[in-house]
Amino acid sequence: MSTPALFTPLTIRDLEIPNRAWLAPMCQYSAGTDGVPTAWHLVHLGARAAGGFGLVLTEATAVVPDGRISPQDVGIWNDDQVRAWRPITEFIHAQGAVAGIQLAHAGRKASVYAPGSPVSGSIGPAEGGWTTVGPSPIAFPGLADPRELSIEEIGEVVAAFAEAARRSDAAGFDVVELHAAHGYLLNNFLSPLSNHRTDSYGGDFGGRIRILVEVVDAVRAVWPADKPMFVRISGTEWLDDGWRVEDSARLATILAQHGVDLIDVSSGGNVLADIPVGPGYQVDLAREVHRVSGVATGAVGLITEPDQAEKIAADDDVTAVFLGRVALREPSWPQRAAHELGMSDNQAPYPQQYLRGTWRH
Ligand code: FNR
Repeated sequence: MSTPALFTPLTIRDLEIPNRAWLAPMCQYSAGTDGVPTAWHLVHLGARAAGGFGLVLTEATAVVPDGRISPQDVGIWNDDQVRAWRPITEFIHAQGAVAGIQLAHAGRKASVYAPGSPVSGSIGPAEGGWTTVGPSPIAFPGLADPRELSIEEIGEVVAAFAEAARRSDAAGFDVVELHAAHGYLLNNFLSPLSNHRTDSYGGDFGGRIRILVEVVDAVRAVWPADKPMFVRISGTEWLDDGWRVEDSARLATILAQHGVDLIDVSSGGNVLADIPVGPGYQVDLAREVHRVSGVATGAVGLITEPDQAEKIAADDDVTAVFLGRVALREPSWPQRAAHELGMSDNQAPYPQQYLRGTWRH
């Protein structure tokens, strides 16, 4: 049989990615002191690499301490963190998978209690939290007011992303993804609903995307030319007066001109909205971004079944699928998918340690 689209390797720049079933970035709230990844991250990400995901992407990894969502988030702003990430990328590589890191600044949604804490919402400074920042002093509903970033501080944020990308390369990552979705700092700048600035970082489309384009340029300048760069966006805010899919397609065209290789298209998270959640509910956004811009896209959001994922991956408008919650339940989802799509034991993405006990025996 011919190889299913989901298991067809692809090459972006000089990086070969063995298949198109990719682990979505997912916060684990399990960092050690000061954003250092732990054995949890090695086991969590390592299990999914052994489980056959072609690209294993870390959770949102903060570029500065104040850019963490919660105090339990991981980071990549110092050398201790680089040293702790290295065995994780080495293990991912040993499984034949590719290692990606999602670089993030949580903006006005930073400094909150991690899920599972007895309390939720913003952590006050007296409890170990910090003052959040954003393009404008407009709070996310229910969270503390952010402080407006000065132009000088915007420059520091841009530099922090570049420094984090340099450290990511040193830590052995193959792909860098900038987190510009879900209501975190870069997304706060993109949206007219959270960015009310009147200077050159606000106002019209060109002003609102400016910080992201500067981050892309600064990261591309230090990130090796043979390694891919992705950007995750919220393709729509699901509100007529917010960021729309047309804006996403326009942004994708510009980002590609600045060296971005793939747009990972999610949605929502910057403001409250009714989201029509259902199987594959964001896939059409990825399709539309590619159709208009021609830029490669990844689709994410309730893609859970092998047949469903195969149809999406076979569509010319989507390059790869990201799997989130299903991958938490099923670390070796790609192995099951390979069998359900008719691949033989030898073709399926098994580590050699597991070949004796493959699915059919
Ligand atoms: C997420 N998601 C997410 N997204 C992101 O860009 N960075 C992140 O760090 C996280 N963290 C995170 C943690 C957990 C526990 C979940 C469940 C989700 C969103 C995730 O990447 C994905 O876009 C959504 O979960 C939708 O895909 P699924 O889960 O329906 O496949």
